[in-house]
Amino acid sequence: MEIMHCENLSKIYQTGEASVFALDDVSLSLASGSFTAITGPSGSGKSTLLHLLGGLDKPTKGTVYYRENDLYKYNDNQLSVLRRRRFGFVFQSYNLVKELTGYENILLPVMLDSRQPDEAYLNRIIDLLGIRDRMSHLPSAMSGGQQQRFCIARALANKPAILFADEPTGNLDGKAGREVLTLLRTVSHELGITLVLVTHDLHVAEQADRVIKLEDGKIAGDSGVTV
Ligand SMILES: Nc1ncnc2c1ncn2[C@@H]1O[C@H](COP(=O)(O)OP(=O)(O)OP(=O)(O)O)[C@@H](O)[C@H]1O
Ligand SMILES: [Mg+2]
Repeated sequence: MEIMHCENLSKIYQTGEASVFALDDVSLSLASGSFTAITGPSGSGKSTLLHLLGGLDKPTKGTVYYRENDLYKYNDNQLSVLRRRRFGFVFQSYNLVKELTGYENILLPVMLDSRQPDEAYLNRIIDLLGIRDRMSHLPSAMSGGQQQRFCIARALANKPAILFADEPTGNLDGKAGREVLTLLRTVSHELGITLVLVTHDLHVAEQADRVIKLEDGKIAGDSGVTV
């Protein structure tokens, strides 16, 4: 079953005289519950595509549908509510709030949405990610790998339907990176969350159900849909 698709998605950046086609007429469909890796050289448009699919940026042309909803028909407020409730984001930099403990960081998106935390669900995430012993620590007292696990927990706190991750292991060494990646995959699978992951790393991409390769803003390869 499809959870999201985009049609003829293009993003052109105007810098002075020059136009950069960051994304050039990309159409694709994502299966619900699948793990898709987006790869390609630096500058090929991976982050641009992820941001457009996640409603973080507006396309120059084209549409993105989450289920029946055309993201870019929403006003800014409706879009930010949809993003907060349905999408989770993990980036390369850890960006936890440094004055808050690990647990407070995880709770933040739930609080921002004025909702009661689902303790049982949060406990499940905390155990799946193995971060129970760091809950009352400040980010400064955590390793990079631990901080990234808290970022994943925070991204999952609102029970998103889709988790978007942009080079989430880019700042970690090989071993910590592999652990975080395995956790991302396992947790998404366990919770039935659709995972869209941008990575340079072909070993990482190998673990995905589907690999989409970008080149110069276009799809240069697609291992195909697995439902
Ligand atoms: N805000 C911007 N203004 C102008 N050009 C931009 C902007 N953001 C991205 N670009 C350009 O768009 C193209 C695609 O960028 P994008 O960040 O999507 O690449 P990427 O595949 O994620 O690269 P990397 O692997 O280095 O993160 C690049 O040529 C980039 O220079
Ligand atoms: Mg990028």
